[in-house]
Amino acid sequence: MPTKAALAHIPGPPALPVIGHTLQIVRDSYGTQQDYIARYGSVYKTNMLGVWRVNLCGAEAMERVLLDRENLFSSEGGWDALKRIYPGGLLLQDFDHHRANRRIMQAAFRASAIRDYRLRMTDAMGELLDSWPADAPFDFYKAIKDLTLRLGGAVFMGLPLDGALAKQVNRAIQDEIRASLAVIRWPIPGTPMWRGVRGRDFLRETFRQMIPERRATGGDDFFSQMCLARDEEGRGWDEDQILDQFNLLIMAAHDTTATALSVMIEALASHPDWQDRLINEVAGLGDGPLDGEALATMTQTNNVFREALRLVPPVPFIPRQATRDFTWKGYDIPAGTSLALNPGVTMLSPKHFSNPTTFDPDRYAPGRTEDKSHKFAWTPFGGGAHKCIGMHFSTLQVKLFIATLLRSYRVELAGPAPEWQRMPIPKPKGGLPITLHRL
Ligand code: HEM
Repeated sequence: MPTKAALAHIPGPPALPVIGHTLQIVRDSYGTQQDYIARYGSVYKTNMLGVWRVNLCGAEAMERVLLDRENLFSSEGGWDALKRIYPGGLLLQDFDHHRANRRIMQAAFRASAIRDYRLRMTDAMGELLDSWPADAPFDFYKAIKDLTLRLGGAVFMGLPLDGALAKQVNRAIQDEIRASLAVIRWPIPGTPMWRGVRGRDFLRETFRQMIPERRATGGDDFFSQMCLARDEEGRGWDEDQILDQFNLLIMAAHDTTATALSVMIEALASHPDWQDRLINEVAGLGDGPLDGEALATMTQTNNVFREALRLVPPVPFIPRQATRDFTWKGYDIPAGTSLALNPGVTMLSPKHFSNPTTFDPDRYAPGRTEDKSHKFAWTPFGGGAHKCIGMHFSTLQVKLFIATLLRSYRVELAGPAPEWQRMPIPKPKGGLPITLHRL
């Protein structure tokens, strides 16, 4: 990793000893980034807890780094903090090795598998939504995280919705995620990292035992599909590879869709005109099955989803590490440098989006298509080799949820609109209290 001296020529704000710029960035991540861009330009350095990082801002930088035609930018090095809990997942792999594994993973995302997940999800979602209260306030953020986690047990692992094992598994997944965000990176007994490592070991042992049966019988859940997954040449994974890849997959799927749905629900409750548009769109589907054809007609819902992802992206920054020296915008950047891309701030740039802080899903409609102003202007799912493999699945999950909810209910905020924390992962400060009213 390059020293401060090796990055002396890169501009940046003065840093406090040890903590560097951590406090400002955690307190107001977007405001701080926007301020640094205004003061130092689109390439500047910051220090988070002693680690120097060069920020490469804007859509052009995203294109260069994410398309990475020269195998220069390592995702494994960038996401190093995830390594202890999630070694060997796609995000922790690079270049040819990553491409080979991604081709195998792709088998679990083919159209027929997605159709099976949809069928499994539709019933489970209806059952879980029925357990929510009507005409009484509750915290939507907490409820949707719980719903997606329980749904995950069924759709990702093929476990009964509320079985004892599903509960243990879900607890272990949450421990792993808390560990991946923890400041203390060593598994000292009693710390989140220690619980996370225990959770990882529990999940590995539990799922290892299931592999022989799932390989023999298959199943309409992600884990079974990954046990059977093969690339075009018939290559699949051994047990350890399945466990590593599956573990990262459930982490990547966990909070992201729940966050997007929370932003959507807050926006619909705050913009009754948009809620009416979506209620009408859902009513237009009739009482028939929510199949692929029906969901494909939900274009207004899709635009609200896109707008929610732009305003509060679940993954607001993307880390990489330079594997060799390179030059960007006239700056020489040495091998080993930690790099940060900032899709969150780019998606709020007036260069690409008119009135960028305003909720305006019509900006994606034909005739405006602001997201196309640059290939990398709208990038909540990243881009290039590591672009989110779950993008279509999460769109499906969001449409199914909105259709199931708005067939029966109207949503109202049960308190002031929350402020959103951006770091380390976005969440509404103080929750998202809402009330559901029967239509
Ligand atoms: C709204 C929901 C989601 C958002 C915003 C999102 C965002 C992202 C982003 C930005 C990346 C790229 C990170 C990078 O390049 O460093 C990514 C990768 C990934 N996502 Fe998602 N994600 C979502 C849902 C999901 C779901 C539901 C799944 C699984 C079913 C999933 C699985 C993955 C995996 C496995 C990767 C790593 C891909 C690779 O390295 O090749 N994501 N996601």
